Order: sequence, then structure tokens, then C-alpha cells
Amino acid sequence: MSDHPVYEPPRPARHVGRLPLTELLARARRSLLEVWNEGAFRNEVVNTKVLHQRIFVFNMPAAIEAVFVTQLAGFERKLPQLRHTLEPLLGDGLLISDGPVWKARRPPVQAVTHASRMAGLTPEMTRTAVEWRADWSARPDGTPIDALEEMDRFTAGLLGRTIFGSALTSEAAAELSAAFALYEARVGRTDLISMLGLTDFLPRIRGFGSRGEVRRIHGVVDRLIGVILDGKAGETSLVAAMAGAPGMTRGALRNEAVSLFVAGHQTMANTLAWAWFLLSEAPWAEAALHAELDAVLGGRDPAFEDLPELPYTRAVIEETLRLYPPLPLLARRAPEDTEVTGIDVPQGSIVMVSPWIVHRHERHWEAPDEFRPERFLPDAPPPAPYTYLPFSLGPRICTGQHFGLQAAMICLATLGARFRLRGVAGQRAFPTYRLTLRPGESLPMILERR
Ligand code: HEM
Repeated sequence: MSDHPVYEPPRPARHVGRLPLTELLARARRSLLEVWNEGAFRNEVVNTKVLHQRIFVFNMPAAIEAVFVTQLAGFERKLPQLRHTLEPLLGDGLLISDGPVWKARRPPVQAVTHASRMAGLTPEMTRTAVEWRADWSARPDGTPIDALEEMDRFTAGLLGRTIFGSALTSEAAAELSAAFALYEARVGRTDLISMLGLTDFLPRIRGFGSRGEVRRIHGVVDRLIGVILDGKAGETSLVAAMAGAPGMTRGALRNEAVSLFVAGHQTMANTLAWAWFLLSEAPWAEAALHAELDAVLGGRDPAFEDLPELPYTRAVIEETLRLYPPLPLLARRAPEDTEVTGIDVPQGSIVMVSPWIVHRHERHWEAPDEFRPERFLPDAPPPAPYTYLPFSLGPRICTGQHFGLQAAMICLATLGARFRLRGVAGQRAFPTYRLTLRPGESLPMILERR
């Protein structure tokens, strides 16, 4: 039992039994978080058919291990519709590539965001957070802000700097940030039903609208890569670090640089926006965070060596990722007839593992819908294997997991030491799943000095 008040943050209501098809599709078009009945969070597998498409959602550790590790070769390929939607921008970037291209690119991309590089990346992350704190300090106490938009811009700045280093001028940063925001908003409107391949035409039609942004992004990125390769920038950027690896042509560098940005941007921004929201609704957690920051940092800016001393800050981020995993549904297509833990999976089936469901499954978690950061404190038992997967698992696990977790901790520690964000009456966050799981279109909050 926890010794603080029970707090269950917002989530869609769960229906019982099967919905009529029209209602199911209407909900799915709104947000794919709204289609799951209460059985999905209790049963081992969801095995259903929608519009002639067989769909399996596997919830148990053995099946999750099969899909992501032991039978990976059969489930490696991402859905073609998802690839078609993102390909004009990402090309053959790691996020959507498979087969030999994925195999060749994974090592250089993984190397530049490896845990061993985090110490070197900390100063840039802290510098970005300190600048943000200065910006917040210049605003009057009680200023209304859109916390989602703030975190979007914060993570865009942080990613831009780390990916491109000193080659990134403030004009290029502003141009990239604006073009990515437009692109993500446009792709975010893409109907997920179509992305999952239940109908086949919509994403490509919508994709046309984003050509202008794609051209702008490629133009800026190509220019920056040119500057880096000409040796005019410092050696610390992720692009410079990838440049020496075999096969990293200018085209490959562009695709991987853009993929790193797309993979890291909304995922980190959402995590931070949700964390601020959860803290604003759970004053006991906010107080515990503040106590830790005051005791460990005492007004200093966080350094790499401080991170292991901030277990509560880390636990807030990990619990946020459990309740609101930025990528809540990981989908693959079975290329041939196969079997997963004794269940026949016919060729063409969509096979899903859903961090959203697994993280709230009653067999895996006590009080799964409650916000309890203490689950992730060092003295708590670790989650059972294959029940906590915000970064996916196995050989295709997120290469940016250390980067994302660390950057989020530094942001929360630097800003949380001086500020709190308060909720606005009648403007509560609500989980919405489009491209990623966001707290809505915006997150109005009030900026307060501590
Ligand atoms: C809290 C932040 C983040 C979360 C929750 C997250 C989550 C994920 C997940 C679930 C996947 C697997 C997607 C799938 O299999 O369909 C993934 C892949 C990936 N992520 Fe992240 N991510 C985060 C931050 C980042 C950052 C900061 C970067 C880079 C700087 C990054 C780079 C990548 C890349 C390159 C892949 C593709 C890996 C591959 O397919 O081999 N991510 N991420």
C-alpha cells in the first residue's frame, strides 16, 4: 500500500463486450485508445477481426518475447502503410527500414546514442534546460502557458543542438522547428485506421500535403550536414559522430539525422508534458520531487554525476512512461502463417503489442491505473520481464532510450527546482492517440515560481 492519497489520472472509459462496427470505427478514428474493452486489460490475448483484417494483441510476457525477440525475423517488418506515410521525410531511416538496410544502419545509430555517450551529451542538455529556465524566469509569476507547446519547443531545441552541434544557427533551428511542427501536425491528422492498413488510401492522399515541409526540412538538414562534413562544426554532434561509419553517405546521414529528430521529438515532449500534468494533480509527488531536488542539487544545475542521486525524479519519468507510453501501440504484419505461444497466426494478420494495455494490465501491475512513482524507486521490486516496454524490447529497442530518459530528467530537475506548473480549471489533459499519445492538442497550465 502507498502512504499517499489514491490518484487515478485521466483515461478513456472502458466498455464491456463488443461494440457495433460503426461505433468501433468512429472511436478508432478519434483515438485508438478508446476501442479497448475492459477484457483487453485482463485477458492474455485479444483475437479479433475488423473489416476482414485479423488482429492479435498479445499481452503476456512469453508472447511479447516471441514477437520482439525469439521470432523477430518473422515480425521485423513495420506496417507498409506506416512506412508509406513517413517515407517521403525519413527515406530509409532506421525507424522505418528493415532487412539489410536496418542491419547496416543500426550499429552507427545505436553507437551515437549509446549509454556510454550520455556523460558527453549532458552539458548540452543542461545548457538547453538552463536557457529555458531563464526564459521562464523572465515571465511574470502566474503566466498562462501551453505546457505541450513549451515541451515541443524545448525538445526540438535540445535535439537540434545534439544532432547538428554548433552547425545549427538560431535561424536554422527556428526554420527546422517550424517545418517539423507543421509536418508532425499534418501527419498527426492521418487516420490511424488507414495507417494500420484497415483501409488503404488515406495516408498517401494526406501525405501530399506535407511535401512543402519535407522539402524545407531536407534543404536545411542537407545544408547543416554540408557544414559538418566540411569540418566547420565542433566534433560533438551526433551527425559528426555517425559520419565516419561505413556506408554513411550524405543521403544516409540525412535520413538518420531526420529519423533521430522524428523519433525523439514528440516522444520526449509528450513524456515531459504528461509529467508536469501528473505532478500538478498529485501534490504529494510534487513535494517529494522538490524535496529530492533541493537536497541533492541545492540550487546547482544538474550534472551527469547527479543523475543516480535523483531516483524520485527518474521514478516520476518512468511512471509517466508507464501510464502514458508515447508510442502506445507497436504493430507488425505476419508475413506468413505462424504460431505465437501456441496460437495460430495466419499470414497477413496484424500482430500488436500495446504498451498502453500491457502497462495497465491487471495481471502485471497492482492498481494499474493509479499514479504511483514509488513503483520505480530502487527499493521496489523491478517490473516482471516483458511487462514494461515504453521503449519496445529486443534488437529493435529504441536506440534513444538513455538519451530520452536522461534529457527528461535534466529538464524536470532544472525547471522543477524553481518552478511548478498548475492546472487550469476545466482544461484537464486527456490522452489522445494520433501519431503519438498526446495530452490533447494543447495543455494550458499556469507557470508559478516555487
Ligand atoms: C521518452 C522518449 C522515447 C520513447 C518512449 C521512445 C520509444 C520508442 C519505441 C517504442 C520504439 C520502437 C518503435 C517500433 O518498434 O515500432 C522506438 C524506436 C526508435 N527510437 Fe525511440 N523513443 C524515445 C526517444 C527517442 C530518442 C530521444 C531518440 C533519438 C535521439 C530515439 C530514437 C529511436 C530510433 C532511431 C528508433 C528505431 C530503432 C530501430 O528500429 O532499430 N527515440 N522508440
